[in-house]
Amino acid sequence: MRAACVHGPGAADDIRVESIPVPVPGPTDVLVQVHAAAVNQVDTYVRAGSYVTPMPTPFVVGRDLVGTVAAAGPGSGFGIGEPVWCNSLGHDGRQGSCAEYAVVPAERLYRLPAGADPVTTVAALHTAATASLALHRDAEVRAGQSIFIGGAAGNIGAIAVQLAHEAGLRVIASARRDDRDAVRDLGAETVLDYGDPDLGERVRDAAPAGVDVFWDTSGKGRLADAVQLVATRGRIVVTAGRRRQDDVDLWPLYTRDIRVIGFVISLASVSDLAAAAGTINRRLAGPGLAVRVTHELPLAEAARGHELVEAGTRGRIVIRPDR
Ligand SMILES: NC(=O)c1ccc[n+]([C@@H]2O[C@H](COP(=O)([O-])OP(=O)(O)OC[C@H]3O[C@@H](n4cnc5c(N)ncnc54)[C@H](OP(=O)(O)O)[C@@H]3O)[C@@H](O)[C@H]2O)c1
Repeated sequence: MRAACVHGPGAADDIRVESIPVPVPGPTDVLVQVHAAAVNQVDTYVRAGSYVTPMPTPFVVGRDLVGTVAAAGPGSGFGIGEPVWCNSLGHDGRQGSCAEYAVVPAERLYRLPAGADPVTTVAALHTAATASLALHRDAEVRAGQSIFIGGAAGNIGAIAVQLAHEAGLRVIASARRDDRDAVRDLGAETVLDYGDPDLGERVRDAAPAGVDVFWDTSGKGRLADAVQLVATRGRIVVTAGRRRQDDVDLWPLYTRDIRVIGFVISLASVSDLAAAAGTINRRLAGPGLAVRVTHELPLAEAARGHELVEAGTRGRIVIRPDR
């Protein structure tokens, strides 16, 4: 089969489409014929070696897939021909998804609801699982609470707005000016310009007692600002950012019972992922998940997919191994 591989950490143009044997599923595994695979920022970090995780050699890049069951181990519970998806390959020693076939442990594989489009689905999996777990497991959101979502037109932010709105939260968002209407359409009540020098005051105007949850999905904001804008017993969710920040005022943090919660989907357990899959499949079977796919590339252009993500291309990049 053809697979987009690297032979150790390296640059995007080290990705080669190679011919490697079709992997053989174990008794509780499933062999999936891959129709669509996403390129996530984390896939570029794993490929580059900046997010260290065990990698077989050669290593097939990619984490998410939508496909069809081609063979199933006797204890897998899946049948040949079933449409399925997975969002936890390519990490912790597991091979990746950017190939014509991939072996998926049955406990990490979910049925694709009838009628769900493979391309928009694969584009939503990583961000939707992240948003679902960050909001429900970690921030413990409740209907009627308020949330600030920074970077709300981005891949994570846009899904976070949809899931927060669905959960009955009042969403105050930030986005670039041009994206304001799109973010409002996703369910935000108030959309502020992230470039506004008075953004903090605008958030305060919208939530005078502070927001119950503060989540800057871009990772570009200051934690010190979040501490000032979150309510007593509020939660600050951290899912991005690499800069050191050492100007945080500790006094309001502990005297107002504020929690700062770091979260990375890569460490989600199988049961966490299954809980998120329940949310995703309910949405796929119902109202769907709005996602902006900007590039659909054949497997031969997997390296370009990584380059596009690393260049900060807006929207989602999808690889089609079936083309
Ligand atoms: N922890 C996890 O489990 C997890 C999971 C998935 C992703 N991530 C990380 O989350 C981050 C965001 O990923 P993404 O795919 O959503 O990226 P993205 O699509 O580029 O979204 C980032 C958004 O932030 C906006 N933005 C830029 N500067 C901003 C600022 N100063 N304040 C507020 N918003 C600003 C961008 O707007 P413009 O388009 O106008 O620049 C864009 O809409 C990445 O670092 C990614 O690695 C973490």
